[in-house]
Amino acid sequence: MTVFHRLNIAAITRETPDAVAITLHVPEQLRSHYHYTPGQHLTLKALIDGQELRRCYSICSSPQDGVLQIGVKAIPEGRFSGFANTHLKSGDSIDVMVPQGQFGYLPRPGTRGNYLAVAAGSGITPLLSIITTTLQQEPESRFTLIYGNRTSRTVMFREALTDLKNRYAQRFQVLYLFSQENGDSPLLNGRIDSEHLVNIGRTLLDYSAFDRAFVCGPESMMDDVHTALEQAGMTADRIFTERFNTSAGGITASATERVATRFVLVQDGAEQEIEMSAEDDSILDAALRQGADLPYACKGGVCATCKCRVLAGEVEMGINYSLEPDQIEAGFILSCQSRPKGDGVVLDFDV
Ligand code: FES
Repeated sequence: MTVFHRLNIAAITRETPDAVAITLHVPEQLRSHYHYTPGQHLTLKALIDGQELRRCYSICSSPQDGVLQIGVKAIPEGRFSGFANTHLKSGDSIDVMVPQGQFGYLPRPGTRGNYLAVAAGSGITPLLSIITTTLQQEPESRFTLIYGNRTSRTVMFREALTDLKNRYAQRFQVLYLFSQENGDSPLLNGRIDSEHLVNIGRTLLDYSAFDRAFVCGPESMMDDVHTALEQAGMTADRIFTERFNTSAGGITASATERVATRFVLVQDGAEQEIEMSAEDDSILDAALRQGADLPYACKGGVCATCKCRVLAGEVEMGINYSLEPDQIEAGFILSCQSRPKGDGVVLDFDV
């Protein structure tokens, strides 16, 4: 179900010239709706230039601290991120969906873990939440962060990371890489790519010693991290990635190859028949066009906010960066990335 609540903005902190941290005030009566686990994101909704836009942003705070905070970096041509960076101010209110997302880690007190985080730019946002919460709740665990940025001026959450280093000096270390600024070591000058990862693995870090790795950044960087870690002996099931921007294309069939059909969606226990035209890119688009109030955020196969379960019929899915193999096996699909393969499709959104 799509659940948005209007929340007040308690504070906006400028992190870098083009990024802010937004702290949201959750009133007592809504507290139970906004419980989150480290790594999850929030979807924000706003009317910008007459158009309703939704965007998801990762939570950077730790649930332990009783704070709900997201990081928003302005991206070129980014209407929502630009709006958040230049227009929003403390005291404003904004529509916020309840926390979503499967990326992350639930710390278990008593665990003695050795974890790696790799981030580029605003990819630090969910990782900061995971690192902070893990260091708080697993007193014997360690975290190493490799964090890439253009320059030291563009490092988001530098102060929060310094605080963590001071508080957990024996258990937390950060390697900063700068692509447009020379640091102390040539090893750390440049982007996080295969070459730098291999060199760091040879000289500074033993990747095989990490129990888990959490990665968030551009696709090419995440691919390079996967390769480097797997070559060092870490199995893929211990590497967890979060994508925000996708470069891939989406639904596979073009409009000319598609056939018009109908499907039934079940939401809040009620059935609604939806017509799917050849022009509709996805089940989600067809349903929204006909007035269904379905949950969605990224429309890019990343966030899984739009997921539903196929009860009958067959469905073709394009991009999927968020559903796990066992969820697909259980019949889950991303409605923003799927089209029915024929008549008789029934989809359950009450899942
Ligand atoms: S809306 Fe994000 S995966 Fe469909």
